Amino acid sequence: MVLQLKGLLAALAVTAAALIIVGSRAHAETPLERGTYLVRGIVACGNCHTPKDAAGKARADLELAGGREFDLPIGKPIAPNITPDLETGIGTWTDAQIITAIREGKRPDGTLIGPPMPIGFYREMSDRDVEAIVAYLRAVKPVSHKVGKSVYNIPLPSAYGPPVTKVAEIPRDDKVAYGAYLAGPLGHCLECHTPFVSPGVLDLSKIGAGGRELEAFSPDGESAIVISANITPDRENGLGLWSDDEIKRAIMRGEAKDGHELVRTMAFDWYAHISETDLDSIVSYLRSMKAVATTK
Ligand code: HEC
Ligand code: HEC
Repeated sequence: MVLQLKGLLAALAVTAAALIIVGSRAHAETPLERGTYLVRGIVACGNCHTPKDAAGKARADLELAGGREFDLPIGKPIAPNITPDLETGIGTWTDAQIITAIREGKRPDGTLIGPPMPIGFYREMSDRDVEAIVAYLRAVKPVSHKVGKSVYNIPLPSAYGPPVTKVAEIPRDDKVAYGAYLAGPLGHCLECHTPFVSPGVLDLSKIGAGGRELEAFSPDGESAIVISANITPDRENGLGLWSDDEIKRAIMRGEAKDGHELVRTMAFDWYAHISETDLDSIVSYLRSMKAVATTK
């Protein structure tokens, strides 16, 4: 009887272990699933690479087909077509070439990709995540859409840094570290929310203090300027007095603390798809930042 019970317990233990394995397999995302989650969410390549309608909403029929023109002090960059179209997109590029474009800002022909593509942040994207993003880019609908060439009135650097070889995963159980990864290398929140010391150069002593002049979309289709907000814990200018839920509502729904609608420069139409755990990590990271007063 005792032996039988032992046998039964052992069998149950084996079954439980099998269930756990099956369970974790069921949860392990494929690269395409991860890439879809990232590009349609926190990474939001489409905030620049998908043309927007007059209200500032991304056009689903032209997903990642390029053509958005930026009017910046450094020139007039145009976001290219990054769908798999063979002639007007990046359909002929290899996976490795696309990864080099994203993390090193270098095209297959050796030319450099200029701002505002946030290469400085993308350099820190993990191997697994950048591969997942490529899997998604391969799966989007190819769109034949020829766009113009960027014009810069500043010289571009010869490189953004040494070649990026291996970037390890950031452990997700360290919420602040993973939140910093979400807000930096993946979401480039800090690119828009950090002031410049000189055109195109972020003031790293004021990370998150806002004050950048960015393009806005007004409902009448006219482009206008919007100033990015201070997202450090500063109590006067920043998020110091905001609740976690208020911060999450601003990110996901574009709702300010007082309820007014934020301008569609920030990618909240994409951020609406960020998971609750990732949002928690972003908030933990924002809370951990140094409080900096807004300068402008
Ligand atoms: C803030 C705006 C912005 C974001 C965000 C952005 N890009 Fe770009 N991207 C650009 C601009 C502008 C260019 C063209 C720059 C130039 O002409 O030198 C570009 C160029 C590229 C190119 C080169 C294509 C070619 O044909 O030359 C690729 C590939 C690319 N981006 C992929 C991506 C991917 C993938 C993401 C998301 C992970 C992304 N970009 C996010 C603005 C952006
Ligand atoms: C393309 C630039 C851009 C990116 C990327 C961006 N933001 Fe923003 N964000 C803005 C601008 C501009 C505003 C102000 C909008 C307004 O005043 O209507 C803003 C507003 C906010 C606000 C509201 C603050 C306030 O005082 O009203 C929060 C919170 C915020 N952003 C957090 C984030 C986080 C977190 C991320 C990354 C997940 C992010 N932003 C990415 C440009 C950006």
